[in-house]
Amino acid sequence: MTNFTINGRDVTVDVEADTPLLWVVRDELRLTGSKFGCGVAQCGACTMMVDGMPRRTCITPVGSVDGASIETIEGLEGREAEAVAAAWQGLDVPQCGWCQSGQIISATALLREVPKPTDDDIDAAMAGNVCRCATYVRIRQAIHDAADSMEG
Ligand code: FES
Ligand code: FES
Repeated sequence: MTNFTINGRDVTVDVEADTPLLWVVRDELRLTGSKFGCGVAQCGACTMMVDGMPRRTCITPVGSVDGASIETIEGLEGREAEAVAAAWQGLDVPQCGWCQSGQIISATALLREVPKPTDDDIDAAMAGNVCRCATYVRIRQAIHDAADSMEG
């Protein structure tokens, strides 16, 4: 048994401890906003927030998050998350959408740490999130717009 909190809800799952967290969240908890892309921590599609830090959940054994607090795209909250969501909508960032929940998790994590990121900060924070549709220019601009919207 593994116990954790997901989007503020306490859950207990009865699966092998080495099962990837992504599988558990999608298949057991039916939260399918986080996507499977590569399965080897190379694309970022599976990114969730684990105790406030972005984590590649395709390689995270569920047993390792016992007692943790997890946020997924379905439950991401707070000032930064709202600013990111508004900026994403304002610029129509997604194309196919597959990578976008991971992008939004990483962008929100960045803004929680660095309220006014530079292009270099953004590139460093977002480097692990691949977009096959190459929405990178809009992603970068949306992060700047989100940061600007939180000023003052
Ligand atoms: S599916 Fe996890 S990083 Fe690609
Ligand atoms: S929007 Fe299609 S992979 Fe990023």
